[in-house]
Amino acid sequence: MAEPVFPEKTGRERLYAMRHQGPCRNLLPTLLSLAWVLACLSSLGAAPAVPPPRESEELATQYEAVSTPQFLQGQKLISLLSIEPGDSVLDLGCGTGRLAQHVAKLVGPQGKVLGIDPSFQRIAIAKRREAAGLSFEVAGSDNLSSFASGSFDRVYMNYVFHWIDKKEETLRQIDRILKPGGRIGISTGRKDQPSRVRDLIRDSIREVLGEVPADLFVSPFRMSQNELRTLAEQAGFRIVDFQILPFSDYAKDPEEVITFLSASSSGRFLSGVGEEQRERILAVLKQKLSKLQTERGIAMDHPAMLLVGEKPR
Ligand SMILES: C[S@@+](CC[C@H](N)C(=O)[O-])C[C@H]1O[C@@H](n2cnc3c(N)ncnc32)[C@H](O)[C@@H]1O
Repeated sequence: MAEPVFPEKTGRERLYAMRHQGPCRNLLPTLLSLAWVLACLSSLGAAPAVPPPRESEELATQYEAVSTPQFLQGQKLISLLSIEPGDSVLDLGCGTGRLAQHVAKLVGPQGKVLGIDPSFQRIAIAKRREAAGLSFEVAGSDNLSSFASGSFDRVYMNYVFHWIDKKEETLRQIDRILKPGGRIGISTGRKDQPSRVRDLIRDSIREVLGEVPADLFVSPFRMSQNELRTLAEQAGFRIVDFQILPFSDYAKDPEEVITFLSASSSGRFLSGVGEEQRERILAVLKQKLSKLQTERGIAMDHPAMLLVGEKPR
């Protein structure tokens, strides 16, 4: 049978010809297999970032609307990091990217800011932001092994560290990817900080479940001041600055408090219980919160511990 002739080949015809004629007939499957093996190898050691079960586009959008406290505290953290034009910066747990966009203005067109977050819904919103040198990827603290050693001047986590359980490993990786003399910035919630809203959450969970399971509470991986300092020092950082920064604002009503808790936790808030129990806890919580209602709204505290550490030169 005569070979098919393609005087003016379309793309699809050229592909057909490549697959069925000449040396490519044998080479193509081999190349495809090789590409697959390489892709598998490159993904080893970096488990894909998994967003929490209740995360959604709606929560990500709501976070954009309620995250002014995080943004304002984040700007304080950034001011302590001495970021300079031309710096290469990693925003670990960037959320919807508002702070990363602010940092992109500081590093200017010669610098680079990469924001990463395990929530693809938040990264989708972040990618709508435009600034020279600013980019975003879906990835989390478990994916830092894919960055080359000494690739960043600054790495910061703004209101993220209390969501990370493998803290030692995360700090070890940050130390590796920072250049000598590079700086880490952490703003994070304090576990020993008194909070009326947190007390009411605890009481509501106890009222419905009879106990408060450790993994069900708001951001279970919070640390004390001493624990944070010690952990950073043990990872090899010299502490350059450490501050407690109080910050309070008002939520309009109980509903807005719950939106804040759900959106700022990427849906982790009460995600460990079934739908029916969750609804019951929320109903009890709303009732308790309504007793805190004032004319200005319900007072919410968002204090942060700010730590700046330097990698020795
Ligand atoms: C309160 S938000 C803070 C977002 C942002 N840094 C800001 O200042 O608005 C916490 C963020 O941490 C992210 N996160 C949770 N676990 C993480 C992890 N293991 N690695 C990186 N980011 C994580 C969440 O997806 C969420 O976007």
